[in-house]
Amino acid sequence: MSDLLSYSRIRPPELQLVSLPEVIEDAFSSVKEECQLAGVRVEKRFDPTLPPLPLDSQQMARVFLNLFLNALQAMPGGGMLTIQAMRHESGYHLQQGFPTTGGTGREEGWVEVTVTDTGEGIPPQVLGEIFRPFFTTKAKGTGLGLSLAQRIIEQHHGQIFARSWELWLSPPPKACL
Ligand SMILES: Nc1ncnc2c1ncn2[C@@H]1O[C@H](COP(=O)(O)OP(=O)(O)O)[C@@H](O)[C@H]1O
Ligand SMILES: [Mg+2]
Repeated sequence: MSDLLSYSRIRPPELQLVSLPEVIEDAFSSVKEECQLAGVRVEKRFDPTLPPLPLDSQQMARVFLNLFLNALQAMPGGGMLTIQAMRHESGYHLQQGFPTTGGTGREEGWVEVTVTDTGEGIPPQVLGEIFRPFFTTKAKGTGLGLSLAQRIIEQHHGQIFARSWELWLSPPPKACL
């Protein structure tokens, strides 16, 4: 229900220079206990050289919370949640999730955040649907978490995408957003 309210009330982002790790930690604090109860181990890797970023911290915290909730819901029997934030120079950019060399027009470089879980993964036929409003595979899902996240990221001129691995060596990250 709160996804639905946030979705209908989405407003242009109010950008302020903020610490990305602080925004992520803020979102994580609301799922920390749930992780412990579910037996989900958490690994955070934040690049110590990250500069302050122009973000709407409330909206971005919502994005991260939605990703963490999805990860937790994918690991009811426990697992591993990895949250990574790293800085890239302007030399290469991502195209459909894969690094590509070439001009980006983003001369100051950019920052990538990945949220990875070891849950059941996302089947290839589902992967293309997950950002669609109201798309859900859950009995009580709203199907709005990722669509809301995508709208917020786009309003920040960012990109969001998902990958899923069917086969992976240990440890096995299965979904990565
Ligand atoms: N980490 C994940 N692992 C597996 N499936 C996922 C994950 N994140 C999202 N999904 C898939 O994407 C769908 C849409 O997610 P979302 O928009 O957050 O809606 P909801 O969580 O309410 O279903 C989910 O129902 C699920 O099928
Ligand atoms: Mg969700």
